[in-house]
Amino acid sequence: MTITLIAAVDTNYGIGDSNNNLLYKIPNDLQRFKEITTNHKIIMGRKTWDSLPNKPLKNRINYVLTRDERFRANGAMPLNSLDEIKYIAENEEIFIIGGAELYHQTIDMADKMYLTYIFDSSKDAATYFPKFSYMDWNVDKSVLHVGDKYTPTYNHTTFSRRKKGE
Ligand SMILES: NC(=O)c1ccc[n+]([C@@H]2O[C@H](COP(=O)([O-])OP(=O)(O)OC[C@H]3O[C@@H](n4cnc5c(N)ncnc54)[C@H](OP(=O)(O)O)[C@@H]3O)[C@@H](O)[C@H]2O)c1
Repeated sequence: MTITLIAAVDTNYGIGDSNNNLLYKIPNDLQRFKEITTNHKIIMGRKTWDSLPNKPLKNRINYVLTRDERFRANGAMPLNSLDEIKYIAENEEIFIIGGAELYHQTIDMADKMYLTYIFDSSKDAATYFPKFSYMDWNVDKSVLHVGDKYTPTYNHTTFSRRKKGE
């Protein structure tokens, strides 16, 4: 079982605005998100599902976490509790793709994280990725992408949870 979080955060850990949208749409980062998650199960909160312009996300099994037991959506499987996430992750790597509520509730059960650190804080964030201790994580990979006049500088960082004794 591997539970993986994938998110793009600004310098204050902001991830979304007050209209339920992403703070940034960096084409190379969105492409990376697609490559990493394709052919896997992805799990999102109901508000993130609502925010998707094109849904379901193609070539992935889309799950939506909601407390509404009557929730139905074309192309998505509803989940009503966090325990169900552990169940569907039993034999494979699954991806928690947001939003803030989901990240906050699942970071302690996560084994791995793909974070995009965007070196900018000029957007008005309304939702945030949880602060976490770097002591709990190893950095497996870190790649800096220098920005230009259209795109801020950002860093793709892959973390795996540090095992006891490491
Ligand atoms: N930067 C990024 O990487 C990134 C990625 C994804 C999303 N986002 C942004 O994040 C924002 C949305 O985040 P959010 O925190 O407002 O919402 P969210 O986490 O996407 O969804 C919250 C909803 O999930 C359901 N939920 C949460 N915990 C649950 C639990 N324990 N059991 C059952 N259902 C549960 C509830 O749905 P019901 O109300 O239906 O019960 C709740 O209202 C948007 O702006 C989006 O664009 C950013």
